[in-house]
Amino acid sequence: QATYLKDYLPPAYRVTHTELTFDLDPTATRVKARLHLERHPEREAGLPLVLDGEGLTLKQVAIDGQPLEADEFEADAHSLTIARVPERFRLDTEVEIAPDTNTALEGLYRSNGMYCTQCEPEGFRRITFYPDRPDVMATFSTTVIGDRESLPVLLSNGNPVEQGELPDQRHFVTWEDPHPKPSYLFALVAGSLEKVEDHFTTQSGREVLLQIWVEPENLDKTDHAMASLKRAMRWDEETYGREYDLDRFMIVAVNDFNMGAMENKGLNIFNSAAVLTHPQTATDAAFQRVEGIVAHEYFHNWSGNRVTCRDWFQLSLKEGFTVFRDQTFSADVNSAPVKRIEDVSFFRTAQFAEDAGPTAHPVRPDHYIEISNFYTLTIYEKGAEVVRMLRHLLGWEDFRRGSDLYFARFDGQAVRIEDFVACMAEVSGLDLDQFMRWYAQAGTPEIDAHGEYDYATGEYHLRLSQRTPATPGQSEKLPLHVPIRLGLVGTKSGHDLTLKLADAAGGSETLGKDAVIHLREAEQTFVFQDVEEAPVPSLLRGFSAPVKLRYPYSREELAFLLTHDSDGFNRWDAGQRLTMLALDDLIAAHRNGVEKVMDVRLVEAYRSLLDEPGDDQAVLAEMLTLPSEAYIAEQQPVVDVDAIHAAREFVRQSLAWQLRDAFLAVYRDNQNDEPYAPTPEQIGRRKLKNVALAYLMSIADDEAIGLTQAQFKNSGNMTDVRAALTLLAHSDRSDLAEPALKAFGEQWAHDPLVMDQWFTIQVTRPQPDVIERVRFLMEHPAFSLKNPNKVRALIGAFAQNRVNFHRLDGQGYKLLADVVIELNRLNPEIAARIITPLTRWQRFDEERQVLMKAELERIRGEKLSPNVYEMVERALADA
Ligand code: ARG
Ligand code: ZN
Repeated sequence: QATYLKDYLPPAYRVTHTELTFDLDPTATRVKARLHLERHPEREAGLPLVLDGEGLTLKQVAIDGQPLEADEFEADAHSLTIARVPERFRLDTEVEIAPDTNTALEGLYRSNGMYCTQCEPEGFRRITFYPDRPDVMATFSTTVIGDRESLPVLLSNGNPVEQGELPDQRHFVTWEDPHPKPSYLFALVAGSLEKVEDHFTTQSGREVLLQIWVEPENLDKTDHAMASLKRAMRWDEETYGREYDLDRFMIVAVNDFNMGAMENKGLNIFNSAAVLTHPQTATDAAFQRVEGIVAHEYFHNWSGNRVTCRDWFQLSLKEGFTVFRDQTFSADVNSAPVKRIEDVSFFRTAQFAEDAGPTAHPVRPDHYIEISNFYTLTIYEKGAEVVRMLRHLLGWEDFRRGSDLYFARFDGQAVRIEDFVACMAEVSGLDLDQFMRWYAQAGTPEIDAHGEYDYATGEYHLRLSQRTPATPGQSEKLPLHVPIRLGLVGTKSGHDLTLKLADAAGGSETLGKDAVIHLREAEQTFVFQDVEEAPVPSLLRGFSAPVKLRYPYSREELAFLLTHDSDGFNRWDAGQRLTMLALDDLIAAHRNGVEKVMDVRLVEAYRSLLDEPGDDQAVLAEMLTLPSEAYIAEQQPVVDVDAIHAAREFVRQSLAWQLRDAFLAVYRDNQNDEPYAPTPEQIGRRKLKNVALAYLMSIADDEAIGLTQAQFKNSGNMTDVRAALTLLAHSDRSDLAEPALKAFGEQWAHDPLVMDQWFTIQVTRPQPDVIERVRFLMEHPAFSLKNPNKVRALIGAFAQNRVNFHRLDGQGYKLLADVVIELNRLNPEIAARIITPLTRWQRFDEERQVLMKAELERIRGEKLSPNVYEMVERALADA
């Protein structure tokens, strides 16, 4: 049963105020709800009241204090319908729910004995009967009753206004949230938790109490999240003029959580993996991820909560904008070029793959079966790229004015994506009608670029053409409005040349040395005048649009950009392109059974990078990192898993042999004895050092092994320990791998987040014993299919292990399908997520296609949740 955007209607009745009382019990929690309802002014009188409700046992229902007779209402598995209601009334219901048996982790459930909630997008209907849609916004007053001993802490949104003792060793706390909110932002937490507190004074002088609530053994892992929160609060004031609006802001860490975190008003609930850090247990990447997610959820307080979405088709309104905001925040407080490189390489690998597969959808989809399936890279990351393009088109000042207008105009409302874009158009005077196609058209646009320099006239002609390939349900595509940031780098001077763009009227406009041009047509030629020397174009700087851009660069031109481009991102990208050219040759050689020969120009390019390391170690580390197998696969018409793996390993080892001394020197120069701190500077050094070590270990001579083992044994931080353990565990020598894995597993058996890493390291080994190992580890006491982090760490990570997941005996596919079938019953949302690699069958050779489709068919034969059903149907649609 699909829901369509075109069918949107405002709700028949809206809720002005909601009063909830929870009497907590593991198997029989009572939820009383008193809703103050009134007819929606835009809907006709006399409509029935239909409330959403999933798996609720209804005990009582009353209108304005009058209990309803059995023939006055109808309750089925998904809703409660009351045919006749007044224009304005009070509805009381009481239901019973069972948090303990809730393995879907939506609604109210228990994690390690603690009660918690996840309501976005449609979890609230598993708690009580309600118009569970984001355009119904109400103030909430919530009373939580629980056992005093086992549940000393009782939390909900807003401010605590009353608390007290009750008979039978029970107690209660009442919370009031004065800001009207949709049900998806509701939260409740109850447990035996401890807190770390801090304070923040806002721009206007308001004192805010900050609390992070965790299980007692994690009290020493909250410093970084707290510091990140304070940085984020300050940054949002300074950058977007957004101030916090309640007296307290709480974060709670939960072990069992489907996603990263959730922005519930005043009470953010986090997957413990997205909030807890300690130098000994979390890597630098984890520290940075925590910083970004804490900021993301905090930023939602304005982009999402104060201004929310009219319906779930608008999900990217809050997610795209908020991801853009958190990306910019992380760039500002860390190395900006590195942040961009990381985000773009992930985007071009994973979002491009989504766009090219059977589940491709626009940033604003027009229909869905299960909205939980749409928390995707397209909604989040491509949505953020679309907002970033607006920023490029408007410039920061106008963009900020548009953002201010948006928050002022729509505060307290549930709105649409066009409302956001209209603010941007209004403040800038730009016509953004064509730009709106970015929200409606799925697929990755492909841009072909050709440049020609005329020595006689000094003119440079840049011809650009764009096309977007067909995606499921969308065969016709229209040209998009694409901001292309570019520079022309002089081949003699090595510097950016002034850009003087000819216009249609015969005049010209001087744009500076780094500018944004607007591609709007299917084909368009831009003429730059008075170009003093032959240039190499540096196109799509900073990845100014989410497109594939092709330009017939020679290897010499790429090597030139690698050292001369003034844009750090494009310098890196030139290196990636250069490496890809070499890899293409090697993949072809592998396939044709020809001897592989290393491209000396690539070796020289890497040598020059190592010889002049520059001052940003993290950028250098990125430049020295080979494109991942997944990224390389994205560039191939038909993915040849083994050829890609062989070609990449060949490049890695060739570089290691030829540049061994340079890598050794880099490794030694970037050792660091300072106490651990997650500063950009230290993180850069560790990253660079560990990249060098990885090259050295690809040869695995005695010296490399000695260094790796020493690092594994002696290092005091998880970044270095994990890097070393990974190299040992992934080496061909089981005498190196096994003792290290054993020692690590024993040392950290008590820490679930570290055990997740231990699982991942083992199942990403290239050796062929991995499938047996996955099955074996699924029986390990630290593993549980009910914990999403464990599923991701073991099964999700294994499916990224390309040579093993795609084994030709089909055992990898079978393993994943087995898990999907089991999870379909336990946790449909997670099941529908981990199935993704199987849905990408079209990209592989015939033999693998057959195997993958057979597993999809086997899953289709089960009794499926809507989540998995939708994924499988889309995957097999044109099989
Ligand atoms: N709004 C949350 C965030 O992006 C994610 C919630 C996703 N929930 C879900 N059931 N998929 O911060
Ligand atoms: Zn979000």
